[in-house]
Amino acid sequence: MTTTTTTLKEVDYEQPTDGAVCATRHAWARVPAELSAHERAQFKDKIRRLLKEKNAVMVSHYYVHPDLQDLAEETGGIVSDSLEMARFGRDHAAQTLVVSGVRFMGETAKILSPGKTVLMPDLDATCSLDLGCPIEEFSAFCDAHPDRTVVVYANTSAAVKARADWLVTSSCALDIVRALKDQGQKILWAPDRHLGDYIRRETGADMVMWNGACIVHDEFKALELELLKKEHPQAKVLVHPESPADVIALADVVGSTSGILNAACTMDAREFIIATDNGMMHKLRTLNPGKVFYEAPTAGNSATCKSCAHCPWMAMNSLADVARVLETGANAIQVDPAIIPRARQPIDRMLAFTAALKSGQPVAGLVPNIGAA
Ligand code: 13P
Ligand code: SF4
Repeated sequence: MTTTTTTLKEVDYEQPTDGAVCATRHAWARVPAELSAHERAQFKDKIRRLLKEKNAVMVSHYYVHPDLQDLAEETGGIVSDSLEMARFGRDHAAQTLVVSGVRFMGETAKILSPGKTVLMPDLDATCSLDLGCPIEEFSAFCDAHPDRTVVVYANTSAAVKARADWLVTSSCALDIVRALKDQGQKILWAPDRHLGDYIRRETGADMVMWNGACIVHDEFKALELELLKKEHPQAKVLVHPESPADVIALADVVGSTSGILNAACTMDAREFIIATDNGMMHKLRTLNPGKVFYEAPTAGNSATCKSCAHCPWMAMNSLADVARVLETGANAIQVDPAIIPRARQPIDRMLAFTAALKSGQPVAGLVPNIGAA
């Protein structure tokens, strides 16, 4: 088995010219202003009204502000992981989707429903994995490995998806790569090195890797996690696979955001340590009022700089901007129509594969022999 790692040049992130900023390493993002209870209630009323008027539905990720999660559910939308966001947006009858999350989620929704309007609260809400995988370099990487099936994580641009054979999210990556490996296919994986490495360890697949990382999950620390486990010996450790290998090694369950939620809801334990973005805590705590959730540590007590374990780009989504884009139609996601059909292929493959898996149908016929070994 061969495993290689590309070295990426440092990506420059641009600092927005307006608004307050929050720095997480190189990433700069606008932080929405804190709202009073009265302002929040007013924005929510306005959004409820506009959703009806505009035939729109909210699609929110678990990491965005609790108000955007609760309002999505209350108004017939969804709060979910990135896989279910894509499926829900594709299947819902509404003409307008308001996607609270990061840019790749809005682009995926647009690729799957080019005829719908897809609005996002802030178009600058991106992802370090997407930023760290520019299409030109990624294309050259693919050209250097023509014998490999190209599997990319959902957290990528539309152009990168258009170079891929398969799209995966963290909730289906293991099943899809295992099916490819069973067919003898060799894999080119991008961009998250921790998730890719986890999949390679679990499946034994032959994978060459892009060297990307999530700036949030990359910060979880195994040594500190061991200490926290000693403080709470009964606690089960639930870890998102974008985390480093030594953190994953301490997990009782490794899963996507929905996998973590499912484990917390179904496991026979009262205490949990959670290694993922702390936006997840809202749903974990509301669905499990009798259980206790601790955030996994991002640095030791003596550290001078501790990561907050919250994605700076997810934090850019706000009630005020949801109301504004619904009212004005601003921030509509555009994807180059010329690449939509090609970018859609790997997404459709993933959705068909996961739908079959869920309903217990055979998946072998859904895995074409691409990148012939
Ligand atoms: P999920 O697919 O698990 O929701 O993850 C998306 C993401 O961006 C995690 O950081
Ligand atoms: Fe990207 Fe990490 Fe933010 Fe998820 S949490 S959107 S992977 S930077």
